Amino acid sequence: MKIAVIGVGYVGLVSAACFAELGHTVVAVDNDPAKVAMLDAGHMPIHEDLLPELVKRHHGERLHFSSDIREASSDADVIFICVGTPPAINGDADMSYVEGVARELAASLHGHKVVVEKSTVPVGTAEAVQRTMLLHGASPNHFSVASNPEFLREGTAVSDFLFPDRILLGVPNDRTGKLLTELYQPILDGSYYQRPDAIPGDTTKAAQLIVTSVKSAELIKHASNAFLALKISFINSVANVCERVGADVREVALGMGTDSRIGPKFLTPGIGYGGSCFPKDVLAFRSVAKQVGYDFTLLTEVMEVNEDQKERFVAKVREALWTIRGKKLAVLGLAFKGGTDDVRDSPALELVRRFVEEGAQVTAYDPAAMSRAQATLPPGSVTYATDAYAACLNADAVLVLTEWPEFADLDLARVRKLLKLPIVLDGKNLLDPNKVKAAGLHYYGVGCCASPSPLPVSSAPAPRVAVETAAA
Ligand code: UDX
Repeated sequence: MKIAVIGVGYVGLVSAACFAELGHTVVAVDNDPAKVAMLDAGHMPIHEDLLPELVKRHHGERLHFSSDIREASSDADVIFICVGTPPAINGDADMSYVEGVARELAASLHGHKVVVEKSTVPVGTAEAVQRTMLLHGASPNHFSVASNPEFLREGTAVSDFLFPDRILLGVPNDRTGKLLTELYQPILDGSYYQRPDAIPGDTTKAAQLIVTSVKSAELIKHASNAFLALKISFINSVANVCERVGADVREVALGMGTDSRIGPKFLTPGIGYGGSCFPKDVLAFRSVAKQVGYDFTLLTEVMEVNEDQKERFVAKVREALWTIRGKKLAVLGLAFKGGTDDVRDSPALELVRRFVEEGAQVTAYDPAAMSRAQATLPPGSVTYATDAYAACLNADAVLVLTEWPEFADLDLARVRKLLKLPIVLDGKNLLDPNKVKAAGLHYYGVGCCASPSPLPVSSAPAPRVAVETAAA
């Protein structure tokens, strides 16, 4: 099948490469010619496992890049809209990029096209795309609009695409449903996994095809992300109780997660969720609910717990170091999570900013996100180290702020020798507390295993931070 993918961000580029991998012919379009030139020259604009291999495998054959939306879509059977929907000032998703694409498409339809939203969008967007296209001259017989939300996680996006739990199609009619099902047939019938060159992955569970109305599909995406964010805020709150009563949140999460109704995933506490999806989607979902007359206060609480979690970590650093001003902090991790170079809404970056404001000297290391962090943080505010050990040199404490697997394997005896004070603050519960303690280091996790403080305790519990938005 011939596919056009509009928007070569995380979702668009991964989708384009994976559709090519499934045997389709794909043109991926972006209005940034520099990005298109970069991809044509074989360079990746993002750090994403397996993506370079797939792009290299199909580029020039089944996968092409272009900055001409009309040319790319004129030949396509299916057009995926994957442009950004960033948060607007009032908490709504900014739909101007989607609207712009709808206008362009209206002017360039030949034959029948299925236009599919893949970006995370508020319920009702397909209807708005349809209306916009009609207003701009498209004939109702020449297109239909569907929703096929992605559930890709950054860092594992290629595997998530090719080995999904479910494929969700929100369609206006059977014909569109059939066409979109065909796109995913090699995953649904398992024929992709039989290929000798298939990307390796878990084939034990077949992907479930879920076909719904367009509005339900749009809602499923927002509701899923909001629910996962809620799960994280829930376990973060449980961790805070654990700290007060001396329980271990890792044990509690294990006990809870083995109940199949709860499930073990997304029960790791930390410094709060971040990234380009959860913060924006929870806000946007609450805003959608408000617009239709429902005050989704549970989501307000999810956001407040998330903000609070960062404050609690700052308080923990203060508890461990007594004062922050003048202290040298080794920060391991700047990305919003491990496996990505993305620093959008990264709790790690927020904390770094906070420590710098409080007068700490921060030396940071991240395996992939340093240049993006450098472009985001105020120039000269942070020193960037060449590796984790270099960051630890003469530091008063080491802070783990991103769940990169390599930080879990640090040589802790070496870390101990490099540090000025033997203090480890693990904001991601990534390290093994017993090993940390065995190396002669004081360990502070989230909801478990705190070493007795080596210094006087200085601070009262962190204040609650209200989530302020114009929509609130
Ligand atoms: C998320 C959704 O998981 C994905 O389905 C959707 O398509 C896009 O948004 P992503 O933002 O890539 O994916 O990252 P995810 O792995 O979900 O993590 C989001 C944040 O939650 C990260 O900051 C992560 O560190 C944090 N997190 C995750 C926790 O704090 N605890 C957990 O148990 C899991």
